[in-house]
Amino acid sequence: MTVQEIYSEVVDKLKETAKIIGSSFPHVGKDGKWDNMEERDITWWTNGYWPGILWQMYDITGEEFIRTIAEECEEKLDKALDIFEGIHHDVGFMWGDSAVANYTITGNVRSKIRAEHAAATLAGRFNLKWGAMASWPGKEICKSIIDNMMNLRLLFWAARETGDMRFKHFAIAHADKMLTTLIRPDGTAHHLCEFNSETGEFVQHLGGQGYSPDSQWSRGQAWAIYGYTRMYENTGDEKYLNAAKKCADNFIEKCGGKTPAWDFCAPIEEGEGFIPDTSAGACAVSGIITMSKYVENGEKYIDAAKSIIVDMYENYKSGGEMILTGGTGNKPANSNVNVGLIYGDFYFLEALRKLCDENYRNIYA
Ligand code: GLY
Repeated sequence: MTVQEIYSEVVDKLKETAKIIGSSFPHVGKDGKWDNMEERDITWWTNGYWPGILWQMYDITGEEFIRTIAEECEEKLDKALDIFEGIHHDVGFMWGDSAVANYTITGNVRSKIRAEHAAATLAGRFNLKWGAMASWPGKEICKSIIDNMMNLRLLFWAARETGDMRFKHFAIAHADKMLTTLIRPDGTAHHLCEFNSETGEFVQHLGGQGYSPDSQWSRGQAWAIYGYTRMYENTGDEKYLNAAKKCADNFIEKCGGKTPAWDFCAPIEEGEGFIPDTSAGACAVSGIITMSKYVENGEKYIDAAKSIIVDMYENYKSGGEMILTGGTGNKPANSNVNVGLIYGDFYFLEALRKLCDENYRNIYA
């Protein structure tokens, strides 16, 4: 199949899925059906992805029923802001992909305020002694995780909207600290590290959702590619582009044009066979496609992205409500292995639109 054929199928399917699941909060897809996080946990980190997909679909199709559902989701997410204590560093995914998209497309001021509120909570995670954000704070030990790179774009958006440059300064300090603590010199990414909450001293790397502290969790690698690409777009600082490129080169080499494994260093355990993570592939290719605009030999990166997209779709196309199966949420915990993941579908649609739609524009933070 060509990416254009895949894009057409994906857009058609998402229109149908929107009619079936409406303003719900899918996270994991099994047996052809999405779950719904609305009652289970409205603060759940993935709850911005479905409204984010809907806004992308509204931007593509202009269909009013899609906009209505996206707005309903965003209103329901207000409960998460009210609960507040459940809020985490992933507010960029939650409101950067929902409320910012709404504000970009419609100019809705209530959406702008929601996203500014979310950005203020993210900035509040900054630990002065460590010089970066605590993705997961703690009384004695905090953790900074590579995923947090994806949420920094909300801070740049907030700096532009409010004129308060502290948002930008927090984002830059965090990205710099992660360059020296989570990105290895060979362009591979750790998932996470711990630091001392009181002194800000580095403690150790941990395996997190990857195979081991020294391994290479493929979704973490994808977060790094996309996150540092957006850092370059927001600052123009070449060191971020170089980091994104090094991480992308490594990712492309490890994939060999095919769907990534859940961790590039994990042994293929007896009886389990190859365990893919299509969400890592989708996020990485979306980042790589954007990055390709800024580097020499951009075409090489586009070709690699297309090859991974086609391989994922041909091997992991869902027959049910999802676009892709073959996503792996948390292999060490044996949780959500080889399933549909809403963030996989989100980045898959985004990557396809970047390649196939001449009207593509970034609607998110
Ligand atoms: N941000 C959590 C994950 O990637 O699973």
